[in-house]
Amino acid sequence: MLADTNSFEEFGSQARHRVTAFAMADRRPPGDGVITGSARVAGRAIGVFAQDPAVLGGSLGELHASKILRVLDYAERATAPVIGLLDSGGARIQEGVGSLDGYGAIFRRNVRLSGRVPQISVVLGSCAGGAVYSPALTDIVIMSEGAQMFLTGPKVLKAVTHEDVSPLELGGSAVHSRASGVAHLVGADRESALRLAAQVLGYLPSSCWTATPECAPLDPEAMPVVPADHRKAYDVRTVIRAVVDSGSFLELQPRFARNIVVGLARVQGRSVGVVANQPLHMAGTLDIRSSEKAARFVRMCDAFGLPLVTLVDTPGFLPGTAQEKGGVIRKGAKLLYAFSEATVPRVTVVLRKAFGGAYIVMNSRALGADAVFAWPGAELAVMGAEGAVDLVWRRDLEREPLRRAELVSRYRTEAMAPLLAAERLSIDEVIEPDQTRHAVAATLRSLAGAMRPTFRHDNLPQ
Ligand code: HXC
Repeated sequence: MLADTNSFEEFGSQARHRVTAFAMADRRPPGDGVITGSARVAGRAIGVFAQDPAVLGGSLGELHASKILRVLDYAERATAPVIGLLDSGGARIQEGVGSLDGYGAIFRRNVRLSGRVPQISVVLGSCAGGAVYSPALTDIVIMSEGAQMFLTGPKVLKAVTHEDVSPLELGGSAVHSRASGVAHLVGADRESALRLAAQVLGYLPSSCWTATPECAPLDPEAMPVVPADHRKAYDVRTVIRAVVDSGSFLELQPRFARNIVVGLARVQGRSVGVVANQPLHMAGTLDIRSSEKAARFVRMCDAFGLPLVTLVDTPGFLPGTAQEKGGVIRKGAKLLYAFSEATVPRVTVVLRKAFGGAYIVMNSRALGADAVFAWPGAELAVMGAEGAVDLVWRRDLEREPLRRAELVSRYRTEAMAPLLAAERLSIDEVIEPDQTRHAVAATLRSLAGAMRPTFRHDNLPQ
């Protein structure tokens, strides 16, 4: 289903374990529970492995691990992406440390390939232990509906903690697409999960040393009317679709940390990564989860040479005890770090608000954006006008409370207007919303010379 017709070349079909303990000598199926080889997807070479849950539960013993290592070594040598189809109870219990070492060696290879060749994991069944940690080290995790991922399965959980929970409650695709953020995408069934893997691959290069695939350029959809009232919400995805080629936007982690939208798309036929605050959820504030989600995405795009298009509409970081105790300082720093470090072409458009730390974090000029635009109604400032006036002119307001509206309005025009930012070169141009696509596309086209496929860095898990 995944590979181009007749392109799958199997290797290691006769490999079988030599374990004799626990009557394993009587259970030596050829292939040892995993099918491995090379194949082509849309004409491009990939390394591929698929675990077979019907053979010893797809569990990973020493030989099973050696076969997967061979796929990863092939991918390194051929500089080809890896797609793993996972359905495994994890380390094969009968083989003890032999199977644990097998996972250790796979994890090490996953890391060695990280940022060099794309690694995509498609989770098709019940996966536990190492069978979920290897995917966590890869770039993209896709689950099929009904698949499960957990570090410790429900049976072991019940034995150890007496917690009684169903496999789907513990690690179903709903858990990992909404709560944990482990799954980037969920396919309605196995076939659509595999189709999603091929689709994702269509945006990525075969390695960091090659260019991304090119498609025919398409016009974007029409620019929506975004509410001028900054407190009114709208779906930023409608703006994204008016900037990128029609039908090219593939959102990743759409149900997790919904206050930020990340996804793959194309502008004039070339792959880009899009990061956008989502006013529809939590007013588009940045918080721990959205910072981590966006940081990993930015690093992945940078590792694989996808230019970054950032759309800003955020009142800032979400304040509060829960965020501070949860470590928003170090988690928010991840996004700062990811943008600062990125060397791919980077363009930012401030749609409405860009306040405080979030103004800086969201791919600002100071962090190294190649071009920053703002719509005419945008506001760029340390904080919103009301908050600023109450803080700075507190004493004046105690004396003359009726001056508040006048001060707020003055602050808006004298401190927040995009033309002021343009005067200082903090932004390049103030553009009308319907010029956005042109501004983004022209910027990216002008930066073609900055696209040098090379190894930049790995893609550390979020
Ligand atoms: C050997 C295993 C196995 C394992 C399953 N099987 N997991 N055999 N080693 N790890 C076998 C079962 O014995 C059974 O064999 C067959 O596979 C199907 O298993 P079932 O339990 O009947 O299937 P199901 O009800 O679908 O449950 C699937 C499961 C469950 C949730 C994955 O099997 C499970 O909890 N397995 C153990 C998970 C686990 O804790 N693994 C170790 C993780 S440690 P028969 O012969 O009866 O058909 C690890 C180390 C790396 O992986 C850690 C990295 C940090």
